[in-house]
Amino acid sequence: MCGIVGYVGHRPAAEILLEGLRRLEYRGYDSAGVAIQDVQGISIRKKAGRVSELAGLLAEQPCAGSLGIGHTRWATHGPATDVNSHPHVGGNGEVVVVHNGVIENYSTLRDQLQAIGYVFHSATDTEVVAHLVAHHLEEQIRLGKDPQDQQTALDAIELALRKLKGTYGLGILFRDFPDLLIAARLGSPLVVGVGKGEYFLASDASPLVGHTDEVVYLSDHEMVVLTAQGMSLKHRETGARAPSIQTLEQTSQDTDLNGFEHYMLKEIFEQPQTIENAMRGRFEEEEATSRFGGLNLTVQQLRRVDRIVLTACGTSWHAGLVGEYLIEEFARIPVEVEYASELRYRNPPLSENTMVFAITQSGETADTLAALRECQRKGHPTLAICNVVGSTIAREADGGIYLHAGPEVGVASTKAFTSQVTVLTLLALHLGRLRHMSHPAGKRIINNLQAMPEMVRQALKCHDAVKDIAKKYQGISDCLYMGRQFNFPVALEGALKLKEISYIHAEGYPAAEMKHGPIALIDEHTPSIFIVPKGAMYHKVMSNLEEVKARRGPIIAVACEGDKKLEALADDVIYVPEVEDFLQPLVTTIPLQLFAYHMALLRGCNVDRPRNLAKSVTVE
Ligand code: F6R
Repeated sequence: MCGIVGYVGHRPAAEILLEGLRRLEYRGYDSAGVAIQDVQGISIRKKAGRVSELAGLLAEQPCAGSLGIGHTRWATHGPATDVNSHPHVGGNGEVVVVHNGVIENYSTLRDQLQAIGYVFHSATDTEVVAHLVAHHLEEQIRLGKDPQDQQTALDAIELALRKLKGTYGLGILFRDFPDLLIAARLGSPLVVGVGKGEYFLASDASPLVGHTDEVVYLSDHEMVVLTAQGMSLKHRETGARAPSIQTLEQTSQDTDLNGFEHYMLKEIFEQPQTIENAMRGRFEEEEATSRFGGLNLTVQQLRRVDRIVLTACGTSWHAGLVGEYLIEEFARIPVEVEYASELRYRNPPLSENTMVFAITQSGETADTLAALRECQRKGHPTLAICNVVGSTIAREADGGIYLHAGPEVGVASTKAFTSQVTVLTLLALHLGRLRHMSHPAGKRIINNLQAMPEMVRQALKCHDAVKDIAKKYQGISDCLYMGRQFNFPVALEGALKLKEISYIHAEGYPAAEMKHGPIALIDEHTPSIFIVPKGAMYHKVMSNLEEVKARRGPIIAVACEGDKKLEALADDVIYVPEVEDFLQPLVTTIPLQLFAYHMALLRGCNVDRPRNLAKSVTVE
């Protein structure tokens, strides 16, 4: 949430910062702003609304200078107004700050600062940081520190940071140190791009693509000082460290729209390829199993595992639910799927041989990171199923599996879900083959998995049919999603997609649970989407569907090609190819993603930038 960029070098900063903010806009789009340093001092341009609004403002009131910071906001404290937009100014303009995170003790600090004369203009927690740094700067100078020495500024930041409770990724400029760009991190990600005579700062690597492929990730409690001449890194407790430069693999094409109208649609259509990427190089056909390079656990350790906890948020949590069914079925290991936001404050009794997996597209979700750290603290092996290479969770976990899905830009997660499910299927196979699963059973799973990219390609052929069905239902205000077993998490995921991008109230249920309460919602205006492919649960779900039909509820069915029986029963049928039960989520999810997409479009919603949301939830 919130995106930060920074630049110091020899080129005009404004366009570089703007382009960086455009690429980070998925992290928040309530407002955007920049602060640019030149000989005349620091100029600030900021505005509520999208980065395009800021671009307009900068076109009217340009800023010269080759050093600056920028911010795109997802509002936490204070509404989305011009005045609450970042950057924020401290003191009498000595300090300028952009911030991603939440300062939990901001109100105490604000009271203290106000009591000694600091005047606040915004309702944000960030302004506290700006004034606090300014206050310590003034104090250091009063105590006799050299006002021209940059160490005085760095000490002021350090003193201020020690007073903050909460999380921050900060970009800081000082009016009187016009060559310095300083950044600090605790809990909110920051990465430095190393160029030739120039440095870039960003919340993730996407703004660096095309500028440099050499990056340095900041760790918690680290502060970096950037000038056009070089960088120096310091940890609060352990002191200076030499930057370890890593190579970025992303290319600028990865974030192009490639002719699609929206990122979400592009990413839905990428799924045959991204599922294939998640499997590439991970089969050991001779042994009828899967392999992973980065689990960092021995076969003996994996055999000893007697319980698995999958922890995640949102869509990744839904993928975890599919994982639970898969791992319990294939490997007979008990699995629990925990909301990370709950797990981080719970203290469940976990046995010595419990293995914890954090599932996360971004690798930056604050709750998932906190849950992972809590489990690490208690000595459990923690692993990550993650998409973003080099993200905080990927780096902090003891081992893990990357999705290799490429950047997911649309705020509504689509391809990450199917990649997560694919990786969890491979994991279940791996664990199963270390235990009781036979060679032929392993081989059958591999054969089925290998066919999935083609199956998903066929599932995508429902696009036109889904578009027409969406036209028919665009005026609804409620929608129920029903599925059983492997398709129960799909029902939850379908409902989440509809809610988040079309703002229609939607609920997912295990189909048989409906008669324990939700069936009261059924009437002729509330459609139910039944996920009812051929398989073990087919007849059971059909009975649940009949129960809704008997109450005159409109029915949309997601069914297997050629299922004539459903044509007679349902108002609308969307066909997907028939696959084994355990792989059904990979095909049944597709029409639900497309349905949400078209409903949102028809209702005039911003598909890629839904209201109130951000792609990466880096606050608690
Ligand atoms: C929904 C969505 C969110 C994320 C959730 C976790 O479409 O995108 O529910 O799944 O915020 O994010 P990650 O997977 O990045 O940890």
